[in-house]
Amino acid sequence: MTTRHFLDLDALPAATLRRILETAFDMKRRRAGWPKGKIDSGAPLADYTLAMIFEKSSTRTRVSFEMAMRQLGGSTVVMQGQDTQLGRGESVADTARVLSRYVDAIMIRANRHDMVQELAHESEVPVINALTNRSHPCQVMADVMTFEEARGPIAGKRISWIGDGNNMAVTWIHAAARFSCELRLACPAGYRPPQGEIEWANANGGKVTLSDDPAYAADGSDCLIADTWVSMGDTDVEERLAALKPYQINAALMKKAKPDAVFMHCLPAYRGKEVTAEVLDGPRSVVWDEAENRLHVQKAILMWCLGKLD
Ligand code: CP
Ligand code: NVA
Repeated sequence: MTTRHFLDLDALPAATLRRILETAFDMKRRRAGWPKGKIDSGAPLADYTLAMIFEKSSTRTRVSFEMAMRQLGGSTVVMQGQDTQLGRGESVADTARVLSRYVDAIMIRANRHDMVQELAHESEVPVINALTNRSHPCQVMADVMTFEEARGPIAGKRISWIGDGNNMAVTWIHAAARFSCELRLACPAGYRPPQGEIEWANANGGKVTLSDDPAYAADGSDCLIADTWVSMGDTDVEERLAALKPYQINAALMKKAKPDAVFMHCLPAYRGKEVTAEVLDGPRSVVWDEAENRLHVQKAILMWCLGKLD
């Protein structure tokens, strides 16, 4: 079996992603009744260890991967990028070779996407992208799971991305192709996702359109999605806040979507900026399920990477 890296949704076949999602749903069902009920995950990853490298901050990703490994019987080693020799200039290739001798898989949250690709290229064990400047595939898998829990199969549904054309937007573009949904993006000039990503999606079964009009993107939508206007590593804070101000998801914008549309946000959220408190904390928001589903999806990704799924 070739090493199973989980780097991006455009790098994996639709059937593999669907298999991972089905496993995530199964993992969640087994955990029904928690915290009082029994956790019935078995211990399929007993004796497996995951290294977790963080060059950027994290709450959900760190804890959900950590708990996923523990509940599947495995263990983790957390490495803060700046505290490792990588942070002092040891090469990515040498780091990959050494870690491959100790652990069974590597999860990394990195500043540069090409660094993660190099790590995967040199690693003998699976590498999982836990967010880069390009993409955030683990999160969008949890998003698709959350949408399907709330609204049924995502194929053919209209999803609206409103705001910055950032790493999450790019992964949603990949998801539109892999899960056959319509994606309408509304992003201001200067903050649009790369055109090449949209062209790739539309050449691979996606239906992706980009405009600068939040009302057009939200019209008749099944799901409105926001993300922070200032991602980790962004330095042009004032310019961003000014350009993105008209892209707030609020009650008026939600009204343009279908009456049963849901609101999603990967978190952390900034109430009063990209979303109002009324929407984020309102009845159509599924953000807490979305955060929980990170746990179930991480388990499924780990199981796939470590060869426990077909
Ligand atoms: N959504 C997400 O990835 O959250 P963290 O940055 O807290 O990991
Ligand atoms: N776009 C955000 C996502 C955080 C989970 C960032 O990269 O900071």
